[in-house]
Amino acid sequence: MNLILFGPPGAGKGTQAEILINKYNIVQISTGDMLREAQKDETDLGRKVASIMAKGELVTDEIVIGLIEKKLTNDENEIGFIFDGFPRTLAQADALGNLLDSIGQSLDHVVELYVDDEKLVQRIIGRFTCSSCGELYHKITKPPKNEGICDVCGSKDKFNFRQDDNEDSLKIRLLAYYRDTSPLIGYYHVFNKLRKINGLGSVDEIQNKIRNFIKKKAEELKLDFFDLIKQK
Ligand code: AP5
Repeated sequence: MNLILFGPPGAGKGTQAEILINKYNIVQISTGDMLREAQKDETDLGRKVASIMAKGELVTDEIVIGLIEKKLTNDENEIGFIFDGFPRTLAQADALGNLLDSIGQSLDHVVELYVDDEKLVQRIIGRFTCSSCGELYHKITKPPKNEGICDVCGSKDKFNFRQDDNEDSLKIRLLAYYRDTSPLIGYYHVFNKLRKINGLGSVDEIQNKIRNFIKKKAEELKLDFFDLIKQK
């Protein structure tokens, strides 16, 4: 199964992807994480990417598509992928279709998580992660149970705030979303693959809505299959 989780910064793509990969045993591909990883290399590419991301702008299609191509070709025997934060432009959407095709796979579902801007700002400004195990926290909605100590791995005072999680960068990230990424809603709508899900509510509620959509779509496909057999 191949699924795109689509939505503005802070919509909950990463949070939901992490739960879905365990449920469906598929691989998460987050271009944001891949690009943050690339920054750790002291290369020209790493430095270029770091300055673009800190400002909240989109990294070029060429760089991002190159990363995805490498990943899909290396992992082509996986049973499926969740794309989190990719594609973000029409050129990336076209490239994804071609790349999946080239490894004998196709896109099954696109889930758009929508959340109003005010809520997105609250979610993003306040987010931090444990630098040891990656557990996600929020200053107000999900602080560690004991201040300064990670609930999951117990490490002390090792928390990361993302460089682009500030109001100035967030404004530019939102603008990039509405200008360059939201046209993909129409792009996938015409392929009848898109489901819009309200991203407000508890993490479990949203997870259930996504799973119900996947289940319903799978049943529709089964019905199509039986109709096809009956016609033969
Ligand atoms: P990326 O890392 O993809 O960031 P983003 O799209 O801005 O999304 P976020 O990770 O901020 O949010 P999310 O939707 O995953 O929400 P999360 O689950 O974390 O991209 C970063 C940058 O990389 C881009 O700006 C760009 O420069 C570059 N880039 C990446 N991909 C690119 C591409 N394809 N092309 C070009 N450039 C690219 O949740 C957010 C917060 O809300 C958390 O604190 C969480 O705990 C909380 N939360 C989640 N769900 C709920 C809920 N239901 N209720 C309450 N709180 C919740």
